[in-house]
Amino acid sequence: MADITIKDATPEQLAMLGDAAFKAGNLGLARGFYGALARAQPGAVGPMVRQGMTHRPNARRPKLLEVLQLLESVPGAQAFVGEGIATWFKNPPFAADAKFMTLAAQDEAIAPSGVFNWHWNLQVMLNAAQQAKAIPGDYVELGVYKGHTTKFLADYLDFATWDRNWWLYDTFEGVPADQRDPGREGMTATVYGESFTFEEVRDRFATYGNIRVIKGRVPDVFAQGSPGRIAFIHIDLNNAAAEIGALDALYDRLSPGGVIVFDDFCWSTSHAQYRAEMAWFQARGLNVFPLPTGQGLFIKPPA
Ligand SMILES: C[S@@+](CC[C@H](N)C(=O)[O-])C[C@H]1O[C@@H](n2cnc3c(N)ncnc32)[C@H](O)[C@@H]1O
Repeated sequence: MADITIKDATPEQLAMLGDAAFKAGNLGLARGFYGALARAQPGAVGPMVRQGMTHRPNARRPKLLEVLQLLESVPGAQAFVGEGIATWFKNPPFAADAKFMTLAAQDEAIAPSGVFNWHWNLQVMLNAAQQAKAIPGDYVELGVYKGHTTKFLADYLDFATWDRNWWLYDTFEGVPADQRDPGREGMTATVYGESFTFEEVRDRFATYGNIRVIKGRVPDVFAQGSPGRIAFIHIDLNNAAAEIGALDALYDRLSPGGVIVFDDFCWSTSHAQYRAEMAWFQARGLNVFPLPTGQGLFIKPPA
């Protein structure tokens, strides 16, 4: 590792040096410059976005850095670039929330591979989970992987102190072969990047007396145990058949005012899920809000 000392560099110079190192593929050096940039501009969005870009990089990342640079060339843009989203002239609530930023950084290592700067998605999840606290019922996550989203939310919300349960379901083996959508036949367990197990996730939540991890296939797994009354569901199963099966099984248990967040609603890779879910809700005269994060947000109307 090179030992480089730079004195009196401006933030612009630090960003330029970091970006050059990043594009050259020297992530360690890029992190060093971005770290100095973050210290020079505490609380600023640009250094945070750059630091996130260096984590678990993929082939798209250098192009996305160019998107960030281009947006930053617009005066006052306050640009943010994450996986599947770029915003400018927006005031991201998370940027001013030290607890949010600390937990998001801490939990990033257990997100599915390719996911970086997931802050807007986590912000939607956090507001939805907070909203549902006023609604009677338990919390549910369908499709857990290593527990990234629920860990972030449970830590932020201090869920251990809540008088309700959070039920987490996963096959821990990827999408079952007979549920894979056309064109997504490769959705095995390895598609998420790293190996993951039921035991690992169970242990991750062991300190929470009110979070249960259940291994099995949605919707059949609900026979092993499931809540009678629900306030909040995060649906992230990466296939239409299981997500529709979950709606059929759980919708009537969702309290009025209860919230569902679909992780994959508007992603271009997940159009089969979108079509099936739109049809399911439209048949009942209901509406899911499509969000630019790729998520879909549903709030159950009063009975
Ligand atoms: C994108 S990952 C979930 C990511 C997770 N929500 C997070 O916050 O990191 C999708 C997960 O759905 C699981 N899955 C897919 N089909 C399933 C089914 N029918 N039943 C249970 N789990 C399933 C996969 O094993 C995978 O772990």
